[in-house]
Amino acid sequence: MTVKKIAVLTSGGDSQGMNAAVRAVVRSAIYHGLEVYGVQRGYYGLINEDIRPMDLRSVGDIIQRGGTILQTARCKEFLTPEGQQLGADNLRKHGIDGLVVIGGEGSYQGANKLSKLGIRTMGLPGTIDNDIPFTDVTIGFDTAVSIVVDAINKLRDTMSSHERSSVVEVMGRHCGDIALYAGLASGAETILVPEVPFDLDEVAKRMEANFQVGKRHSIIVIAEGAGNAQSVADRIKESNGIDARVTVLGHIQRGGTPTHNDRILASRLGDFAVRQLISGDSGKACGVIKGELVTTDIDKVVHSKKEINRELYELALRLSQ
Ligand code: ADP
Ligand code: F6P
Repeated sequence: MTVKKIAVLTSGGDSQGMNAAVRAVVRSAIYHGLEVYGVQRGYYGLINEDIRPMDLRSVGDIIQRGGTILQTARCKEFLTPEGQQLGADNLRKHGIDGLVVIGGEGSYQGANKLSKLGIRTMGLPGTIDNDIPFTDVTIGFDTAVSIVVDAINKLRDTMSSHERSSVVEVMGRHCGDIALYAGLASGAETILVPEVPFDLDEVAKRMEANFQVGKRHSIIVIAEGAGNAQSVADRIKESNGIDARVTVLGHIQRGGTPTHNDRILASRLGDFAVRQLISGDSGKACGVIKGELVTTDIDKVVHSKKEINRELYELALRLSQ
């Protein structure tokens, strides 16, 4: 049995490229002769029946926009079996036989629950964190990393003038990828991620040695999951006396126009999810591995952990002397 009427929602923390993914789902569905609906505010809208028809024009002029036109939410009620059942019942009530969930790890847990309740579900990795396994990259990660790199470029100018150290805290929840990729791309001296243990006294010693051989600044990028930037800065100053200034980039990392990489990724994945539903597939997470579109059982994805790329981590270490 194939699908005739599908819905799409965005959930959890938004990410740049979610709009491009919604556009791709809607336009691909219509191209293939399906009816398509948008659920407002993620699982909150599912529970509260905020489900609206979408047409080709409803997704016009959004490919370049950050945020999500469907809006998003963190919905506590959906964490309960009753909330999940109500969500599934509401989809059936509206005659919807397929759902595309665009979100992060938590949203995938929700999609997995719906799938177990018999809803044909496809997950698309929409999060800046890049913390979803079985895909090389998530929608929004490329843009977030670009924002961090741009910020570090600016910090580097002023840090060099003053011969200071800069501690930059980035997002990523339990995942160090934003810190790792942005740190490597911006030539940071130190990258602190939750996946790799570190010793701040060693960091301070290395920084002192670097200043002694002529470095005029030092950039430390810390993933939020690895600790707090202010306490790192205090500890460095205490250890080697070098003035360290703190920048917490916060939600700036989640806004702004998506890069072409995120738009293309979102477009490919959105169209792929629709085609998979039409082919009868369900209960899957869509991703890209080595450039190829893939699906993996969503149950497997939510029970697996994304590993840090050790090769890139070691490379960043080697090049930061
Ligand atoms: P993200 O999807 O960005 O990781 P969250 O972790 O906040 O964001 O998850 C988004 C929403 O997904 C939650 O508010 C909740 O409604 C739903 N969700 C999260 N975890 C579960 C779970 N274990 N079971 C069912 N729904 C979940
Ligand atoms: O999952 C995306 C993310 O931006 C994480 O990097 C961060 O820890 C969290 O969401 C912040 O959540 P909120 O928007 O609720 O402050």
